[in-house]
Amino acid sequence: MQCRSSEELMSFVQEAKTMTQYGKVANYIPALGKAHPNDLAIAIQYPDGISFSAGDIQKRFTLQSISKVISLALVLMDRGSEYVFERVGMEPTGDPFNSIAKLETMAPSKPLNPMINAGALVVTHMLVGQSVEDRFQRLLTFTQELANDTTIGYCKDVAQSEFETAHLNRSLSYFLKQHQIIDEDVEELIDLYTKQCAIEMNTLNLARVGMIFAMDGNDPLTGKQLMSADVARICKTFMVTCGMYNASGEFAIKIGIPAKSGVSGGIMGAVPCKFGVGVFGPSLDEKGNSIAGVHLLESLSKTYHLSMF
Ligand code: DON
Repeated sequence: MQCRSSEELMSFVQEAKTMTQYGKVANYIPALGKAHPNDLAIAIQYPDGISFSAGDIQKRFTLQSISKVISLALVLMDRGSEYVFERVGMEPTGDPFNSIAKLETMAPSKPLNPMINAGALVVTHMLVGQSVEDRFQRLLTFTQELANDTTIGYCKDVAQSEFETAHLNRSLSYFLKQHQIIDEDVEELIDLYTKQCAIEMNTLNLARVGMIFAMDGNDPLTGKQLMSADVARICKTFMVTCGMYNASGEFAIKIGIPAKSGVSGGIMGAVPCKFGVGVFGPSLDEKGNSIAGVHLLESLSKTYHLSMF
């Protein structure tokens, strides 16, 4: 059984929208605080080219932590998994996404996984290129290919706002530099990381990116293999084990699809071999995941038996 109309999706959106009042828009990055808490949108992209969407689908939002999956895929392709996993681990933490605690208590101070901020900063550090601009352009071009949309760019206001306030991410980076996990200039790394997090798209774009992961790196609509099946498999596994931060276990039990969230309220889902899904709802729960977005995905998963477990 599959969702086969935008009207069906709209009824899920209307029901889930009641949840937006129980969450809060992120404002630790000041520019994100301007989002409208009641917005909610969903899009589904099937590999046969058919897509459905409902809600505030014209809204564009920044990827924030969803970008961590895309940068990981590119770095795995550039450097190979052996190189990458010498520098970042494969284990969930159970801690909030920006926690520094485990870095200090573990030796060596290798971040536990690429989905927490410490690990994502190491991944961004590994992006190949001659300069910050060159490395960012490679990541942006790859994102455009995944979404099949060359108009995708980044939001300068959000990037600047995060750059000015990213004191915790600077602390993580200096800690990693002190322990020789990274060796680049911290201001340059934060510049690149904040631009990466500010890459902007709508839910349909996000559903299309999710579809590429769902289809093992292949874009069935263009015939291009955008990453190897192995890279897509590694990314999807991280999405299951750490994609929803310290709510990943509950998400796996209740919803059961590989997914990655961001503090702007986006969630990208990849239902293996079936479809990609993009959700946007900026009102967040206490763990930093879209409160209505998670509810929406739970209803969808239960109705259409999407859990992979
Ligand atoms: O590093 C940060 O704090 C943000 N740019 C991204 C964090 C994020 O999206 C975590 N999400 N749930």
